[in-house]
Amino acid sequence: MTDLKAHISGVVYDLIASEATKLGIQAYVIGGYVRDIFLERKNTDIDVVCIGDGIELAKNVAKQLNPKPKVSVYKTFGTAHFKWKDQDIEFVGARKESYQRHSRKPDVEIGTLEDDQNRRDFTINAMGIALNENNTGTLLDPFNGLQDLDAKIIRTPLDPDITFSDDPLRMIRAIRFATQLNFRIEETTYKGLIRNIERIHIVSQERITDELQKIIASPRPSYGFKLLYNTGLLQIIFPELCALQGVEIINNFKHKDNFYHTLQVLDNLAAVSDNIWLRWSAILHDIGKDSTKRLTESGWTFHSHEVVGSKMVKPIFKRMRLPLDHKMKYVRKLVYLHLRPISLAQDRVTDSGIRRLLYEAGEELDDLLILCRADITSKNEAKVKKYLSNFQHVEDRCKEVDEKDRLRNWQPPISGECIMDAFAIGPSKEVGLLKKAIREAILDGEIQNNYDEAYSFMLNEAQKLGLSQKSRL
Ligand code: CTP
Repeated sequence: MTDLKAHISGVVYDLIASEATKLGIQAYVIGGYVRDIFLERKNTDIDVVCIGDGIELAKNVAKQLNPKPKVSVYKTFGTAHFKWKDQDIEFVGARKESYQRHSRKPDVEIGTLEDDQNRRDFTINAMGIALNENNTGTLLDPFNGLQDLDAKIIRTPLDPDITFSDDPLRMIRAIRFATQLNFRIEETTYKGLIRNIERIHIVSQERITDELQKIIASPRPSYGFKLLYNTGLLQIIFPELCALQGVEIINNFKHKDNFYHTLQVLDNLAAVSDNIWLRWSAILHDIGKDSTKRLTESGWTFHSHEVVGSKMVKPIFKRMRLPLDHKMKYVRKLVYLHLRPISLAQDRVTDSGIRRLLYEAGEELDDLLILCRADITSKNEAKVKKYLSNFQHVEDRCKEVDEKDRLRNWQPPISGECIMDAFAIGPSKEVGLLKKAIREAILDGEIQNNYDEAYSFMLNEAQKLGLSQKSRL
């Protein structure tokens, strides 16, 4: 039996209780914090619902604390908030209509505790713990949320048509909680969700993306993506990914289902890395396969899908309101390079191939190798084993060449300025050509990675271009 009193003990809770009594109102901790007590998850966001004026209660409690926290008041929404130690405490008056933490809906109608619980998203999120002097620590669980927690079930407290139409984001939240907690969505709720999917169109992209990020950050994100796909939501919010679904067989030529393959890669990767952007690169690594698919005499090909895919990253990030800074560039680079280590493993592993990979991947080499490892999926275990061992060879060689040549974040020994100075020329095509020739010669192992060899190589190449060295006075 969980000792609820232990979870609501301390100076703040005592003050809430005594100040609420003075004001003649009742107060309850409600929602995620209560759910997480039973799940034994740390939660520092505490929502306090008051049957009365939440703002006044917050101010009175804050006044008694030492040091006195700064109270932020949102009058239109009837809420007040302050930070106490590591906790964020929000006070809100009980409402008759749908509760959303960041709702922009003003003029909420005051309700009872029951009204407030009715208008929450799921039974597991509708439990309250009384904070009043006469009933401290009593659990108020009108929809058997505790039972649903035990049975690992996501269920709406009211008819799902009402709960989901109050705030259609809750359809994705249902899938998010199911994925995070490894719960099942109860049948009536699931059917209601499917009936309401079209209403997701009225939800802002930022809120959708927030939930999607939480699905992606879960231990087994494929579960959430399959739910999104099976309900029809993914087709609305992420059509490019859905386009990868399906297997086509023509003239006995068959290709794998790239949607389910992608989800497998995502799970493989999630098992070894929490890096959300690396997880995004798993989601997008084959995104170019739909538009590059061709049937040739020897079977299906997806030629240049990594190039096409990398070009799709920015528009997808833009639409999803994901950051367009270095995080997007990182994902784009990994999508672009994702075939390289594998194709190296299939061909003969040459030093120059490895050098090129080190140079192009730079800082991202380790993450690229993690992605490529996750990308090795096949039903044929012997095949996977063989690929993995070839791949191990590439990884070992990368390490060796990296230690020897230090090509990550490498700059060739001759700069553009140096070339311009040597031939007394300004910025021009020739400078670019020479720079490239020097870089390639070093990567191919034709010359060593040092100034002297690069300089005499440059003089030779310049002659071919008809450039003569500046006369020295
Ligand atoms: N809530 C709701 N409908 C929403 C969003 C929130 O009913 N669309 C209610 C739920 O009771 C929820 C509470 O508001 O428990 C707090 O929501 P939120 O801030 O999203 O946090 P948690 O439920 O705690 O989940 P998490 O912290 O994992 O986001």
